[in-house]
Amino acid sequence: MPGTFVTFEGGEGTGKSTQLKLLADVIMARGLPLVQTREPGGTPEAEALRTLLVNGDPGRWTAEAEALLNYAARASHLQKIIRPALASGKFVLCDRFSDSTRAYQGYAGGCDLKLLDALEASIVGRTRPALTLILDIDPAMGLARAKSRADGSEDRYERKGLKFHQRLRAGFLQIAAAEPKRCKVIDASGSIGEVTARVLAAVEPVLNG
Ligand code: TMP
Repeated sequence: MPGTFVTFEGGEGTGKSTQLKLLADVIMARGLPLVQTREPGGTPEAEALRTLLVNGDPGRWTAEAEALLNYAARASHLQKIIRPALASGKFVLCDRFSDSTRAYQGYAGGCDLKLLDALEASIVGRTRPALTLILDIDPAMGLARAKSRADGSEDRYERKGLKFHQRLRAGFLQIAAAEPKRCKVIDASGSIGEVTARVLAAVEPVLNG
């Protein structure tokens, strides 16, 4: 694919969405065609599935059901947004992608990793990110940050408890260790400006082709 696919990952309250927007500004300032999107979501169908996933009782879905719903959303997103954008040479910045399913449903939620491997092979196929930035922070700090800015909506995963979020962080670090070329772990503690500097340093090689 002629375009460049970059994903942001991490637990709750890492500042990932803020950093994605700041990176998008840098990319646009350089005149590169950009699509900014998110998961679960990015198409009306996937956004409808997102509503089911991020609201309500923390135990309303099993980890397997969550994996299937996320992959249903991802299939729509890939078909309608991500693949066409990459095919036309655009830069695609996506807030979460299949590593989130592996970390949240797999490592933290206990879903069989073989099921996730099969879903990824079939639905993502070769549309894998060139670069994944994993924003890392102590989960107690991240959850406190997330709570302080929360409006009480879309907080189903924040209410899953500290142990879940500790497994989640360990899962993301395991993903990064398994694929060090694709995944860069970014220390998400400190000021927004400090984290942005770390993000830009990690992205620069990709921006320069
Ligand atoms: P957000 O907080 O980045 O907006 O993402 C919404 C929530 O969905 C977040 O708590 C993580 C969760 N999620 C999964 O559990 N599995 C997935 O595959 C994705 C994409 C998100």
